[in-house]
Amino acid sequence: MKRIVVTGGLGYIGSHTVVELLNKGYEVIIIDNLSNSSLDVQNGIEKITGKAVVVNILDLTNREEVLNFFSKNSDIDGIIHFAAYKAVGESVENPLMYYENNLYSLINLLKACKNYSLKANFIFSSSCTVYGNANDLPIHETSPTPSAASPYGNTKQICEEILRDASVSEENINVISLRYFNPIGAHPSALIGELPLGKPQNLVPYITQTAAGVLDQLTVFGSDYNTNDGTCIRDYIDVMDLAEAHVAALELLSNSRNTSKFEVFNLGTGKGTSVLEIIQTFEEVAKIKLDYCFGGRRSGDVEAIYANTKKANTILGWTTKTCLSDSIKNAWKWEQKIRCKDSFEYVLLE
Ligand code: UFG
Repeated sequence: MKRIVVTGGLGYIGSHTVVELLNKGYEVIIIDNLSNSSLDVQNGIEKITGKAVVVNILDLTNREEVLNFFSKNSDIDGIIHFAAYKAVGESVENPLMYYENNLYSLINLLKACKNYSLKANFIFSSSCTVYGNANDLPIHETSPTPSAASPYGNTKQICEEILRDASVSEENINVISLRYFNPIGAHPSALIGELPLGKPQNLVPYITQTAAGVLDQLTVFGSDYNTNDGTCIRDYIDVMDLAEAHVAALELLSNSRNTSKFEVFNLGTGKGTSVLEIIQTFEEVAKIKLDYCFGGRRSGDVEAIYANTKKANTILGWTTKTCLSDSIKNAWKWEQKIRCKDSFEYVLLE
């Protein structure tokens, strides 16, 4: 049985990927520091899959602990690295915290790969944020990556550079960097989903929390963009589809079908959807009238971005399966579940 280390495996995308790995017969070891997750997620994963998963509470910025962990767990077949801070606004307020956490974690993992000659089929969580304000849509992996608009985005660009260099110098390190567009949704069982820390920054959790009465009203940031209805366009991809792509990427590396030691793939649907279309889909699916108003543009937002997915479709042999309304339906089901305290075991993150 192939053994995979998943950092940040109790987080939003990490937990869904762990489910997919377990369902495909992999053995999974999770590393998580619980900074934006809860141990309850482990129960959700085990209930869905009927399989046990090992969780190590460990801070990846602590090199000694990381080296110690891998000295005892050197018999592995791959690493999927999710653990990172991810809030754009917070990164602008506290850039050093972002550089320290996101870069040290990666460097410590790579040090362990080198020191213990680990079989490092390495999958990295990147983001479409690396493309900045793109003109040429849909955006291709070869599109330019201009200076990042936030320290968060910069950590993704720098991490990709570190990984590219490490893959060249270290024979055992092969890397796939997955550039996510906008992940949404939850596992259809509603046993795992997104647990946003504090007030959500992202559109779909903001919508579901507003509909659930946790937040008063959604503000649509900007109605004067040069788009079909004046609101921004994004490429919303279901989290379970995203999870499947991680397993496909791992398989590409383990079968040595990668043509380069460092490869990048866009993970999106290839379709752009406006903020108003998301609201409309939510209203149809949930049969609820959402309370929203229009506000000014949010600083740092790009007008429109969506993926060219050809490379992932052909080389990974992966396509998305979940339609937008099902993703939103699952996100709403999850929101209702976590608000129903009697039936729910999760401790909501403060
Ligand atoms: N939006 C609103 N109101 C809200 C929240 C969001 O109108 O309360 C709008 C945004 O202005 C944007 C769209 O909804 O037009 C999507 O916003 P999100 O915050 O959900 O997602 P972003 O596209 O801003 O961010 C995502 C990822 C980031 C990544 C970024 C790169 O969450 O990690 O894409 O573009 F860096």
